[in-house]
Amino acid sequence: MSKDERNITWQASSLTRQDREENNGHRSRTLWFTGLSGAGKSSIAFALERFLHEQGVRCYVLDGDNVRHGLNRDLGFTAADRQENLRRIGEVCRLMVDAGLFVLSAFISPHAQDREMVRQLIEPEDFIEIYVRCSIQECERRDPKGLYQKARKGEIPHFTGISAPYDIPESPSFIIDTELCTIEEAVQEIVGHLQQIGALHLPLQTNSALIY
Ligand code: ADX
Repeated sequence: MSKDERNITWQASSLTRQDREENNGHRSRTLWFTGLSGAGKSSIAFALERFLHEQGVRCYVLDGDNVRHGLNRDLGFTAADRQENLRRIGEVCRLMVDAGLFVLSAFISPHAQDREMVRQLIEPEDFIEIYVRCSIQECERRDPKGLYQKARKGEIPHFTGISAPYDIPESPSFIIDTELCTIEEAVQEIVGHLQQIGALHLPLQTNSALIY
């Protein structure tokens, strides 16, 4: 259905994303953490959020389990539901990036084509994919929520890594291997990477022009 048929019109703000970024003293971006359940996506995202917050960066974590408590409470884990889960999250990321925020998204996002859909939705240059790597054996050993045990008993259908696939990212911006580093080391490595690719400059440069 076209916009005209639905009688809706885009309403433009007099403020731009750039205005908001300049107020914040940093560019807005989406960091997209993908990986198996138990790999450490949420732990890294929340630890990074605290670090960035303390540096004055306006940031927010979107987490799979949390978003499924509200916005996406009507969705399950079939391929179609996961796609819709990520499409809605992608739209939320887009709004948050426009609002000038640094978004940290932690979703299994197992299908490469869904991650690509989100990348295109957000704008490729604003989407930084971080693969949180951890073997299925180690995730199963950690089993922080007891879900792998349930999935092995056949109590959870479509469980990623057990009865549903996970596509390993082919060319992520960065890889963190949580079998080889601590959460704190992961945070420092990601911050270093963001500075290296020019996505973030610390300390923040308030009252001066941002590098575009
Ligand atoms: S995604 O595949 O659609 O990206 P999402 O990140 O939102 O998944 O949610 C994953 C979380 O839901 C897991 O960390 C786990 O706690 C819970 N969960 C419940 N059922 C499943 C399932 N079948 N597969 C994977 N995770 C599940």
